[in-house]
Amino acid sequence: MKRPSFLPFLFRNRQVDQTPEFENFIRQYPEYETTKSLDELRIKDFARLDEQRHTYLDFTGGQLYGVSQLKSHHDFLANAVLGNPHSINPSSALAENHIKETRKRVLDYFNAGDNYICIFTANASAAIKIVGESYPFTEKDQLVLTVDNHNSVNGIREYARSKNCNFQYSPILSNLRVDEAQLIDSLRELKGENKLFAFPAQSNVSGVKHDLSLITEAQSRGWDVLLDAAAFAPSDILDLSIHQPEFIALSFYKIFGYPTGLGALLVKKDTFSKLKKPSFAGGTITIVSIKGDGYHLEQDAARFEDGTVNYLDIPAIKSGLDYVEAIGIQTIKTRVDCLTRYLLSKLQDIKHSNGRSLVEVYGPQTGLNRGGTLAMNFFDPSGKMYDFITIEQKAYEENISIRTGCFCNPGIDETNHTLNKERLKSYFTKRGKKDYFDLIEFLGQKRGAVRVSIGYITNFQDIERFLSFCNKFLNKKFEE
Ligand SMILES: Cc1ncc(COP(=O)(O)O)c(C=O)c1O
Repeated sequence: MKRPSFLPFLFRNRQVDQTPEFENFIRQYPEYETTKSLDELRIKDFARLDEQRHTYLDFTGGQLYGVSQLKSHHDFLANAVLGNPHSINPSSALAENHIKETRKRVLDYFNAGDNYICIFTANASAAIKIVGESYPFTEKDQLVLTVDNHNSVNGIREYARSKNCNFQYSPILSNLRVDEAQLIDSLRELKGENKLFAFPAQSNVSGVKHDLSLITEAQSRGWDVLLDAAAFAPSDILDLSIHQPEFIALSFYKIFGYPTGLGALLVKKDTFSKLKKPSFAGGTITIVSIKGDGYHLEQDAARFEDGTVNYLDIPAIKSGLDYVEAIGIQTIKTRVDCLTRYLLSKLQDIKHSNGRSLVEVYGPQTGLNRGGTLAMNFFDPSGKMYDFITIEQKAYEENISIRTGCFCNPGIDETNHTLNKERLKSYFTKRGKKDYFDLIEFLGQKRGAVRVSIGYITNFQDIERFLSFCNKFLNKKFEE
């Protein structure tokens, strides 16, 4: 894709980029200069952010789309006669053709060669659910999950439980990285016919990039691997010619913002037949009979795509991938990495006048093997923790989009706040109200965190605005 020139806009924006703070930043992170094309792109495609003085720092929640992405897809829709697939009429055939091309585009993007099948789903959660409900768990099998997992992966344990399959969590250390020695012991010791190990390539809370060599470690001991790549793929390279987990789950809006409602499950071809779909639906069978009481499932991706796929939006995945490829995933990675390391070091430096830190960032304290997601809490000069709702509310008042809570990843939150296992267990037998705030009250202990996440369209000013927001809490007593 050819990149147009935005020099006049860049010139307009120059003043901001010549502050002493920015110059200092560039001295520390000179490689940031190689990502200048993103400043041009921001002016062209994301002007709404600066026009509305909106500081968007929730990229792990969702990537933002560029207006040219919308335009290109809407132009396509305006000119195409697309019909429901699964027929040979021209509109249906056209839709089928775009779906086929898009599957190939996705597989090419991840360098999957001819080794994978791309199943379109509604999102990463739906992709993970296919594995949960179709993996052939029995009482002789095993499921291992890392404590750092999104609830959409945690939920698989209930499929395992319902089949009396043993499941166990592999612990994380206080730095929020996997305890690899313990994990490898479990992978070595646990016996079973079908063994599934599920972990995220990148934590959606701490930003930790888990070691992808765990994939081959597990496979060499007879395990199938489900890699949750939802938080990793937006700003890193998942090269399936190097790492070949059996299953990979993704959400496309996290990579390029538009459209929502589409994800994928990539399944290694030689594992496809291992997934036993428990039912069928329209579009998933070659034949079914009511009187004959039988059915045959489709032999490829369609087997797991219940009903009508999102055929109007699937072609937008092609333009979305073109969009990020035109920027360059290495450029994205560099941008996110420089801003993350800068933010991390600045947060560590903010101290109340009594010397106490304002912010505690959980997990890795350096930029090594981490992505652009930072989970933290704020503390007043006496060391009392602010509740995250106060922080989110204040951020809202300044038009800063951040996210708070436990981010559908209770394992990380329970680790950060060293929550007591027995007490947590007793909550589920004793309490009736059954929600997050009720649990907090029951525990009598604060939990949760504030999450800031950086994307390719984030710039230095966004980070500075967040830092100046943080500084407003300096030397102030927190009143409940
Ligand atoms: C690591 C990870 N896995 C899974 C999901 C679920 O994605 P979705 O809500 O798009 O299904 C998320 C969403 O934030 C995530 O960050």
